[in-house]
Amino acid sequence: MSKYKIVMVRHGESEWNQLNLFCGWFDAGLSDKGKAEALAAGKALKDAEYTFDVAHTSMLTRAQNTLGSILKEIGQENIPINKTWRLNERHYGGLTGMNKTETAQKYGEEQVQIWRRSFDTPPPPMEADHKYYDAIVKDPRYAAEPKPEEFPKFESLKLTIERTLPYWNNVIIPQLKEGKKIIIAAHGNSLRGIVKHLDQLSNDQIMGLNLPTGIPFVYELDENFKPVVSMKFLGDEATVKAAMEAVAAQGKAK
Ligand code: 3PG
Repeated sequence: MSKYKIVMVRHGESEWNQLNLFCGWFDAGLSDKGKAEALAAGKALKDAEYTFDVAHTSMLTRAQNTLGSILKEIGQENIPINKTWRLNERHYGGLTGMNKTETAQKYGEEQVQIWRRSFDTPPPPMEADHKYYDAIVKDPRYAAEPKPEEFPKFESLKLTIERTLPYWNNVIIPQLKEGKKIIIAAHGNSLRGIVKHLDQLSNDQIMGLNLPTGIPFVYELDENFKPVVSMKFLGDEATVKAAMEAVAAQGKAK
């Protein structure tokens, strides 16, 4: 029986999604299409009469602005918003800023697929001379955390899950138990980590999951936090399928 309900949404298309660049912890803004997707996500939640007690998002502007648009649309801009690096996109290491198509042309589609979707093969690390190293490591928003020893220079999905899951277990689950209605606005890979955990997907199964931008999805969980309803998108099936396929195709050499 369904006891808990939680809504999650990947941010709307970012300017770097639009340019097909590996983004990770680079703080790209929403593209115009992404802003429209965020508005549409809010409208879909409003039409379905969702309300929330608390929201969770990452430290990155694209997720925060998506959440902001949604909350504005549903008239709930005043609920508490928790921002955490633990919901950030996985850190794309040395690939950050590289074009996904050009990377596939240079290293092959198979290698790009491994970097994008393998469970535990990380991308190469971001070295100190990387173009975006300082912009990320010295960003004042990370002054308090992550601690220097926790600060990633690259992350596989496995490593991403290792810092996202404690947030799920220690913050989200207790709030669900208190009866709080929660929305999480985060990223393709931090959310894939939560989905893998909830649906107990194998390392192979999770490779095939590509989350679309800006389409909210709902989980209903039983008293043991096992899904009764998994990843139910607030969007028509054909649109969701096409959006997922478009994300998968970003790593093609064309
Ligand atoms: C990025 O960080 O580039 C994207 O937001 C997620 O990328 P992916 O779909 O290639 O993992």
